[in-house]
Amino acid sequence: MIRVPGDKSISHRALLLSALSFAPSRLEGLLPGEDCASTAAILRALGCPVPELPRDGGPIRVHGVGLRGLKAPGETLDCGNSGTTARLLLGLLSGLGVQAVLTGDASLRRRPMRRVTDPLGEAGARFREEGEPGCLPVRVAGGELTAVRHTSRVASAQVKSALLLAGVGAGVEVDVTEPAASRDHSERMLRRMGVQVQQVGSTPHRVVLPVAPTRLDPLDLLVPGDISSAAFLLVLGALGRGTLELANVGLNPTRTGALHVLRRMGARITVESAREMDDPGGEPAGDLVVQGGTLHATRIQGDEIPSLIDEIPILGVAAARAEGTTEIRDAAELRVKETDRIRALAVNLRAVGVEVEEHPDGLTIQGGDHPLQGRVRAFGDHRIAMAFGVLGALPGNRIEVDDPGVVDVSYPGFWEQLRALTHQRRAAAAAPAGESAAVPGSAPVAGSAAAAGFAPTPGSAPVVTLDGPAGSGKSSTAKAVARELGFRHLDSGALYRAATLVLLDSDLPPEAWEARGAEAVAERGLALQAVDDGFQVTLGGEPVAPEALRSPRVTERVSAVSAMAPIRDLILEPLRAAGLRGGIVADGRDMGTVVFPQAEVKVYLTASISERARRRILQDGGELSATRIEEEARRLADRDAQDRNREVAPLRRPAEALDVDTTGLDFPGQVALVVARVREVWGNGNGAGL
Ligand code: S3P
Repeated sequence: MIRVPGDKSISHRALLLSALSFAPSRLEGLLPGEDCASTAAILRALGCPVPELPRDGGPIRVHGVGLRGLKAPGETLDCGNSGTTARLLLGLLSGLGVQAVLTGDASLRRRPMRRVTDPLGEAGARFREEGEPGCLPVRVAGGELTAVRHTSRVASAQVKSALLLAGVGAGVEVDVTEPAASRDHSERMLRRMGVQVQQVGSTPHRVVLPVAPTRLDPLDLLVPGDISSAAFLLVLGALGRGTLELANVGLNPTRTGALHVLRRMGARITVESAREMDDPGGEPAGDLVVQGGTLHATRIQGDEIPSLIDEIPILGVAAARAEGTTEIRDAAELRVKETDRIRALAVNLRAVGVEVEEHPDGLTIQGGDHPLQGRVRAFGDHRIAMAFGVLGALPGNRIEVDDPGVVDVSYPGFWEQLRALTHQRRAAAAAPAGESAAVPGSAPVAGSAAAAGFAPTPGSAPVVTLDGPAGSGKSSTAKAVARELGFRHLDSGALYRAATLVLLDSDLPPEAWEARGAEAVAERGLALQAVDDGFQVTLGGEPVAPEALRSPRVTERVSAVSAMAPIRDLILEPLRAAGLRGGIVADGRDMGTVVFPQAEVKVYLTASISERARRRILQDGGELSATRIEEEARRLADRDAQDRNREVAPLRRPAEALDVDTTGLDFPGQVALVVARVREVWGNGNGAGL
């Protein structure tokens, strides 16, 4: 059973409302992501001592300060990337009459706030916009609230909740109508805390707080898993093989639109051990089981949109892999999320080879099953990054996400979980251990996880990539770093050398290598076998001697062979299979960008050009002299330019890599520095105990 992190919407509300209770609350399963950390930090600044949110979702106690106990903060309140934090607090603080300035990151500072401040302003609250018109930073500047009555143009739970919280804070009546039902977590939680909140009719949806409470009862809450996070794994499962089981996922009916849509597309998803709620403020939850298969196109529109608004990025990805043309409409709200998600989906789907049409309020997506490849941009948006992470993990696809770290907003540990699941799925799909597994579109290569003798160990040690220009000492450093960490060294060069050897020994003339070489190499069964400290290259199951790989005739040709796209594509599979279990240090020219875009630690080695020249000369057993160094430096500069500009696998620094400049360091110093950086990154909060 897989667990997804706690529901983000419920976590925000649990923190905010328990802070207002007159007695301590017990909250378990809160999302430890950055968005909820922003809410918790702001509550601390307002005088409620909320503990750190445990990374494992363990329980915390929040000692509420009472309905009117929050104090004006001494600092600007930073909501980070979290729209829910900003909008709910604009409501609550204006209701309480607590003066404060709210701000956020660049993305949040572009998002519209007047949908909240306008109706609150009409009820008497005063705000001062201190940035772009209608955007954060906004100062909550006092004003006396009278009853809040509002008909919203958008179905937004953030607007509805902000107005309800303003009413709770100010002690006034609230009456909000929205065009369709948005999520109702605030209403449920307030009821649970003893507040009367009524729902009137269904379309349009109207919520009334007829009598403002004088106090809020404490909460004892187990937050269910977030269906918006589960949706990524549901799509992975629905398009894969085998079965995925997700434990305790929230199934509030205002949030389950994606389940209905995926089922409509043909996904086999069942709900098991559903938890029915026996109290008025309960949140339904259950275990979800999804079986692999194929999907077909659908139309997503109308009142269904609010119930799946956050799932559209991953549903867009599902549509790209479904049979037929999917239409998404009535979703203009997506343009004002963490990024313009309609644009982000269109741009990225196109970048990997999907036909898409963009509309003001949605997308038309042409599904298919051809391999999708390319680099996509997260645009600072967690759900865009994760949606394309899932697309890239599907068989045959190869997608690099430029900014994988953004997922921490709502789903810390996403990439590790995805890696472990992809591994399990491939291992399950692979031929019995010892046999070879087919690389799509080619003859068999024994590169599958099962064939390489791995067992799935979710959450195990990280993949460390070491890229850098020629002469930066990547290969020898990677080997020593791996030894130091007790990891395996993955030397991609050995695979290219073995491919070159196969080609030299084949009867293909070099002119035919580009077009037909990959087939010839695949036929010879090129694979990697895990050995103690690294990987042994094998051909047809037989180990290849290191001397054969290092022979001058191979050295002479290997650089040309490694620039051939079909060969690189072929070799990608055994390289990735070797990394599935983690615990490797991989060096090469595109390890952090193409082979392992989701590597947990990426290092980019650099050194001054004369230092690199000096090392090259010594490596080749030459004599150091000023002219010799100058000559070699010129050669390296040319090589750098060529490497950067070559068409296939150009040398690029992975966006999120740690730069390690080794100029002036001796070899042990260089190794120690890289090891320290790896420990710093991986040791921090990952608890890997390296
Ligand atoms: C949320 C409401 C939705 C949703 C957001 C969380 C909430 O936003 O997109 O991720 O917790 O209330 P809108 O209310 O703007 O639709």
